[in-house]
Amino acid sequence: MINSTPKTIFSSAAGRVNLIGEHTDYNGGFVLPIGIPQRTSVRLTPQNSRQVRIKSLNMKVDDGHFEYELGKERATKHWADYIQGVTAILAKEGFLLQGFDAEIQSDVPMGSGLSSSAALEVSLMRALREAFNLKLDDVSLARLGQKVENDFVGARVGIMDQMAASLADQEAALFLDTRNFVYERVALPKGCELLVINSGVSHQNAHGAPGANYNTRRSECESACAQLKIHELRDLGLEDLPKLDTLPEVIKRRARHVITENARVLAAVEIMKEAKPGAVEKLGKLFYESHVSQRDDYTVSVPEIDLLVELAIKDADVFGARLTGGGFGGSIVVLTKEGKAEAVGQRILQAYKLQGNKSHPTVLVP
Ligand code: GLA
Repeated sequence: MINSTPKTIFSSAAGRVNLIGEHTDYNGGFVLPIGIPQRTSVRLTPQNSRQVRIKSLNMKVDDGHFEYELGKERATKHWADYIQGVTAILAKEGFLLQGFDAEIQSDVPMGSGLSSSAALEVSLMRALREAFNLKLDDVSLARLGQKVENDFVGARVGIMDQMAASLADQEAALFLDTRNFVYERVALPKGCELLVINSGVSHQNAHGAPGANYNTRRSECESACAQLKIHELRDLGLEDLPKLDTLPEVIKRRARHVITENARVLAAVEIMKEAKPGAVEKLGKLFYESHVSQRDDYTVSVPEIDLLVELAIKDADVFGARLTGGGFGGSIVVLTKEGKAEAVGQRILQAYKLQGNKSHPTVLVP
């Protein structure tokens, strides 16, 4: 018999916005995410059976209900895969579970590039950890969340989002070396504030358009490594850029993004730690360089996101802006003057509307 806690358990996990370090995590590189106010919450009651009954307060499909038996998880390419994936992976890793009823509510918008799936995986695993006394520390929990995506959902994502959901908060960014899981918290310099705008163009890690999707980019990085005879792109620094000349043009551009992006994360962290005068301007410049690299070399941006970034950087109260998250839609993160984020956000939305675009962006943070 499993040693479960019969009482109802409440848990939650936050979404994240990545400040810089995009598509570096599955290349052994560096990332710098920070928690956002939007969270996913779980209310879970263990049951004396093998049945799992889920009620999502956000999903319209099947009235947000999904039910299955532990051990009979089957991927269906819909929202419940993240839940079935959690119980399937926990069982595969030897953790003993029993059935439960869970009600899930989230204000992390799906498809916004703010890590709604990791917030769901981590909040559910936190509840199961407490309910069934699972011996899982926060890093192991994040790693299992990644396995859910890789092995059950079919998205070959890196570890950033689950580490952020498990370990980050809103106070300071989580500077993570994805090669060895070493992390530290680094605060933003004084005089600035973050603004996040969801473009309204939905992003997907698992099932994007052919050729223009997350898994393709990952394969292109693997191809670069095979041709350069290296283990991971993290093995190369800026001084190695000339070596990329031997690669086919597209693969060269992908590798160049990853190598320069890793350098930008390290530069950003140094600037944040030193916090000298001019830090925010320098950080803003790195944001925009990261955007250009994602747009031109990694080609993960879309016209709506490019327009939002260009409108942002024209604003006198903005230091820099970039696409954040997996791309092909999603959100931008903007570094503004302190106390100005809300007003900047409204000005960007207004200017975007005047250009007659079809998507409907929204300000998410602050
Ligand atoms: C998604 C993935 C992350 C990371 C980012 C891009 O959010 O889940 O692992 O690769 O895209 O930086």
